[in-house]
Amino acid sequence: MSRVLIIESSARQQDSVSRQLTQQFIGQWQAAHPADPITVRDLATDPVPHLDSHLLGGWMKPAEQRTDIEKASLERSNQLTDELLAADVLVLAAPMYNFAIPSTLKAWLDHVLRAGLTFKYTDTGPQGLLVGKRAYVLTARGGLYAGGTNDHQEPYLRQVLAFIGIHDVTFIHAEGLNMGGDFQEKGLNQAKARLAQVA
Ligand SMILES: Cc1cc2nc3c(=O)[nH]c(=O)nc-3n(C[C@H](O)[C@H](O)[C@H](O)COP(=O)(O)O)c2cc1C
Repeated sequence: MSRVLIIESSARQQDSVSRQLTQQFIGQWQAAHPADPITVRDLATDPVPHLDSHLLGGWMKPAEQRTDIEKASLERSNQLTDELLAADVLVLAAPMYNFAIPSTLKAWLDHVLRAGLTFKYTDTGPQGLLVGKRAYVLTARGGLYAGGTNDHQEPYLRQVLAFIGIHDVTFIHAEGLNMGGDFQEKGLNQAKARLAQVA
């Protein structure tokens, strides 16, 4: 049995392409592994706060010195991290916003990159602690970026995931969605076909 964690980050619900891809992923996964639990965390409807002095202050302090607000902030971060630690398969839905990932997804990453929990510092440098996990990243983009130097999503997410120990990462890009003509249909169909093959 594998536990699947899906992170949604499109601000759109109805017309979101990345959500169409996660729905396809869920359908495929359930058909192949009906007993596997799937958790969906929607950062649009349930956003996580940006890092602030309460959270960072609480992280650094011994437990008995934390204020109530620091404890509550840390508790939220712990919950997000526990969810990730429990997952065997991570699916990140990542629309492209202004050449990067949505700030909601960045905020989530800021909560789960936790020294001592998801990575640790060693004499030879940082070491990821999430061993044996697999990730799928489902992007949706208005233009065409895959494989080019303007793609700041894939290299960034590969680095972040590798940092916490997730090296088995498959990217599926739905591209050209805002380019008119038949680009949108082609981009979506290609992404769906690839997803059908790999997941
Ligand atoms: C605020 C905003 C910023 C965007 N920035 C870019 C961008 O920099 N490059 C691009 O190719 N598409 C950009 N787009 C288009 C989206 O990537 C595209 O609409 C994609 O389908 C969004 O994902 P979704 O369908 O899951 O919501 C942007 C869209 C929005 C709403």
